[in-house]
Parts: sequence; structure tokens; C-alpha cells
Amino acid sequence: MPETKQKKPIIQLVDVYKEYRAGTISTLALKRVNFQIHREQVIAIMGPSGSGKTTLLNMIGLLDRPTKGKIFFDGLDVLRLDDKTLANLRNTKLGFVFQTFNLVNRLSVFENVELPLIPRGIPRGVRAKMVLDAIIKVGGDESWLSKKPNQLSGGQQQRVAIARAIVGKPVVLLADEPTGNLDRASAKVVVKTFLNLNKAGHTVVVVTHDPEVANCMDKIYVIRDGEIIDEYSSNKAESLINKV
Ligand SMILES: Nc1ncnc2c1ncn2[C@@H]1O[C@H](COP(=O)(O)OP(=O)(O)OP(=O)(O)O)[C@@H](O)[C@H]1O
Ligand SMILES: [Mg+2]
Repeated sequence: MPETKQKKPIIQLVDVYKEYRAGTISTLALKRVNFQIHREQVIAIMGPSGSGKTTLLNMIGLLDRPTKGKIFFDGLDVLRLDDKTLANLRNTKLGFVFQTFNLVNRLSVFENVELPLIPRGIPRGVRAKMVLDAIIKVGGDESWLSKKPNQLSGGQQQRVAIARAIVGKPVVLLADEPTGNLDRASAKVVVKTFLNLNKAGHTVVVVTHDPEVANCMDKIYVIRDGEIIDEYSSNKAESLINKV
């Protein structure tokens, strides 16, 4: 493993607990989770339904605050930040991809990918170049830009969603079941896209039910009942990426 992957973690969770309360019912979704992600790693989080994967991803992605514990982003104690500063950190340093793509169907592909750049006050011409760069990075081309998302295949739509997640050049890319709605062939292309982005310097975290997808990553963490119960290096040699 290259030395850069061994340095100070980009994200660190220390003794993190997350409790959800609905009336008198409480669910302890994360129980004393200690977890580190290093720069330029590509990791998978696996576990059964309800085990706490999305809750964990929400902590890593600074989308929600833990009930107890500490979260560091690049050494910064993020729970000390006010909501506005935290949102700004999240919007500039993190990119999100979801199972259902979450694209806006009445907007073109170009407009969808451009969305995160608009509040940043980036000039139009620069935005246009950033959008095209992002589309090319996910293996798309100029012909995609004027289409509506529903004029593309599922795998292509997910790659547009990935382009939207990376257009602002985040450090970390987080994906929750990104291949869950895709057929096998499209899933492979999407996995390959994540691996290419990782090679280009992005840190990538993928929640997945699919062992074949997980085996393409550097490392697999297994979560059960809110606890990380296992952690192992994946068997890349056996992975589907060699069969793409
Ligand atoms: N907003 C919420 N309010 C109350 N309970 C919640 C909330 N979100 C999640 N939970 C509970 O916390 C636990 C972990 O949920 P989480 O969504 O993290 O699981 P998951 O591993 O992502 O599951 P899946 O594979 O089905 O997406 C579950 O018991 C769930 O019911
Ligand atoms: Mg989930």
C-alpha cells in the first residue's frame, strides 16, 4: 500500500453512538463505533438491513450529529463547528451518491451536474468546463449534456449522479447502495467509475449489500447491530473488476 494511505486519517470516528428516539421508543443504531478512513482509500461497508450502514454513512458524511462521541475531518473536531460552518465543510469536501440517483428529471444532464456549483458563485464559463470535465471523468461525453436523465440508461443516470457528486471536487465521495437499482452490467460500470475516481485521488466509501462490489474495494468493514464486527482486506484478485 502506498505511504500516502497510511498518514493521518481524513475521517475519524471515536466512540460514536447514535440513538434514534421516536416517542418512548429508542433505537441504538450505532454502538461505540471507532472507525478511520485514510486519504485515497476505497472502502466498502457491508451488513444486513437495519444494521446501521446508512446511519454510519450519515456520520461519516457529516449529515447528522452523533448522540455521543467525536468526529474528526482532516484532524478538525467537526462537532465543535456551528451548523453553518459544518454545512459549508460538507458542501465543499464531501460528495454524495444514492441508490435512487436523485436526479431532477425536468432538468438536463448539464443542469443537474451544474446544480452544486450555482450557490458557489462560480462564473458560467468555468461552470460549463467543470460540468464537462465531471461527465468525462465518469466515462460520459458531450452528447449526454443536453439529454434529460430519463433518456439515459440506469447505469448512465447513476454516472450522471456521480458526476454531480464530484463536480465540486470533493475530497471524499460517499455512496449508499449505488448499484442497488442496477443490473449486473451497469453495476460493473458504476463500480469501475468509483475505482477510476479513486485512482484520480478521491477517497471513496461505498455501502453495499453486494459482495462482488465490496470485493473491488481496498477494505471491507462489516457492521451488525450497530457495531463494526469485522474488517478485512478485500480479495481484489477474485473481484469482478478483472472480468469487466
Ligand atoms: N430516523 C430514524 N428514526 C428512528 N429510527 C431510525 C431512523 N433511521 C434509522 N433508524 C433505525 O436505526 C437502525 C439502523 O438503520 P439504518 O438505516 O442505518 O440501517 P441500514 O443498515 O442502512 O439498513 P438498510 O440496508 O435497510 O438500508 C434501524 O433499526 C432503523 O430502524
Ligand atoms: Mg440504509
